[in-house]
Amino acid sequence: MASKTLAYVFSTLLFLLQFHCYAGQSVVKAVYWFPGSGFPVSSIDSTLFTHIFCAFADLNASTYQVTISSSNSAQFSSFTQTVQQKNPSVKTLLSVGGGGSNPSTFASMASQASSRKSFIDSSIKLARSNNFYGLDLDWEYPSTATEFTNLGTLLNEWRTAVANESKSSGKTALLLSAAFFYSANYYSLNYPIQAISNSLDWVNVMAYDFYSPNSYSTPNLTGPPAALYNPTSQVSGDAGTTAWIQAGVPAKKLVLGFPFYGFTRMGSLEIRDYKEPLRAQTWIKAGYWLSGSEIHSSAINSALFTHLLCAFADLNSSSYELSFVSSDEKDFSNFTDIVKQKNPTITTLLAIGGGNSDYSVFSAMVSKASYRKSFIDSSVRIARAYGFQGLDLRWVSANTSSDMTSMGLLFQEWRATLNSEAKKSSRKSCS
Ligand SMILES: *[C@@H]1O[C@H](CO)[C@@H](O)[C@H](O)[C@H]1NC(C)=O
Ligand SMILES: *[C@@H]1O[C@H](CO)[C@@H](O)[C@H](O)[C@H]1NC(C)=O
Ligand SMILES: *[C@@H]1O[C@H](CO)[C@@H](O)[C@H](O)[C@H]1NC(C)=O
Ligand SMILES: *[C@@H]1O[C@H](CO)[C@@H](O)[C@H](O)[C@H]1NC(C)=O
Ligand SMILES: *[C@@H]1O[C@H](CO)[C@@H](O)[C@H](O)[C@H]1NC(C)=O
Ligand SMILES: *[C@@H]1O[C@H](CO)[C@@H](O)[C@H](O)[C@H]1NC(C)=O
Repeated sequence: MASKTLAYVFSTLLFLLQFHCYAGQSVVKAVYWFPGSGFPVSSIDSTLFTHIFCAFADLNASTYQVTISSSNSAQFSSFTQTVQQKNPSVKTLLSVGGGGSNPSTFASMASQASSRKSFIDSSIKLARSNNFYGLDLDWEYPSTATEFTNLGTLLNEWRTAVANESKSSGKTALLLSAAFFYSANYYSLNYPIQAISNSLDWVNVMAYDFYSPNSYSTPNLTGPPAALYNPTSQVSGDAGTTAWIQAGVPAKKLVLGFPFYGFTRMGSLEIRDYKEPLRAQTWIKAGYWLSGSEIHSSAINSALFTHLLCAFADLNSSSYELSFVSSDEKDFSNFTDIVKQKNPTITTLLAIGGGNSDYSVFSAMVSKASYRKSFIDSSVRIARAYGFQGLDLRWVSANTSSDMTSMGLLFQEWRATLNSEAKKSSRKSCS
């Protein structure tokens, strides 16, 4: 079967949150920034935003104090000053946790008064000493009814402490927000609505990643990753915010979150060389390069990608073998060598099909075992001859049920051929 290859096509950084009047402010537009985004803080166009989240501070699992890792400390401590250069009125919040943090550390922290106090006191101190205007909790996710109750206790105590600190310091109280599940109901568990309404300035509703490779419930399914409306399910931004409002959180405290990235799922197969251990690579950042395009292959910044697809080979309508426009053949034959100069670990694939193909040839090819074999054998032969590490099928118009069924057979046979070819070539090279 075709390996499901997922490409993180837009590998940047930001979620935009846009929301209506909270606390006297008519509109709030906010964004999360991550140091790992590779996007310099100084490049953020802060004039677009009213608030910017700096993500993430960490929760220490033994002290329950909030800390900023030493690798982030320089960027975080100058964050507010940097983004205020372009927009002096933008407000910054330090976000704690995030999708990559351990939810059970948050659960233990929230379970006891003393550890909640460590969290709360250290977070306030850290926000003040790094010139943030507020704090944001990103605990993904509490997972029992008790944990949701403890979350409510934490939020109430946090609000009390923030108000107290404001009184004693004479400074404006820190803002408090949290990033929550898209719905007030988390797999049958309910968020602590009263504490949220009373204690938070607003809630960042994570109305995204409904379908993603990391999705808890649907890792193998494609679907609209951030649908605002979905007529066939309750998984949408609209259904989620409706649930939050019906649960009792004032609409003015709800902030709808959008992703600034997308996913693609492609029918690609990689030829794996058994001598080379599989790289533990979860994300694929891939780009198609079109031969004949204005960008020469040597001009591709291949360091940006994990995979590059060289496009397109076509199908010979009588032999069902791969065919090339002769001018492409030269480009294709040293594509891999050229792109590896800037990124020796990149994986290259030969893409077959594309916009100008006559897709009736594809329909015919998949319809018969002997044609599929011609196609498969020639694809592997040519990929190997030209140094490609994989193959990619771009048959965009398969549109009958027999096309779909036959395409399934093609993928299974293709995979089987690749597996046995890899074993054979490895045996050869070992002997
Ligand atoms: C957590 O805090 C303890 C005590 O200060 C420290 O020894 C430890 O290195 C911290 N852990 C992390 C992951 O920073
Ligand atoms: C309130 O602030 C004062 C002065 O900073 C501090 O001593 C006290 O512990 C705080 N109380 C609470 C409940 O945080
Ligand atoms: C997703 O697919 C993989 C590989 O076929 C399988 O092992 C896994 O159980 C699937 N997960 C779910 C939740 O269906
Ligand atoms: C297709 O394959 C046939 C048989 O091998 C060959 O004669 C013909 O020239 C090929 N056509 C193209 C366009 O390459
Ligand atoms: C690519 O191939 C052409 C023609 O075969 C050759 O002149 C050129 O040197 C090759 N470039 C690289 C980087 O291998
Ligand atoms: C289905 O695909 C074929 C090409 O394979 C195309 O000619 C035809 O117009 C398509 N039909 C629809 C309904 O898209």
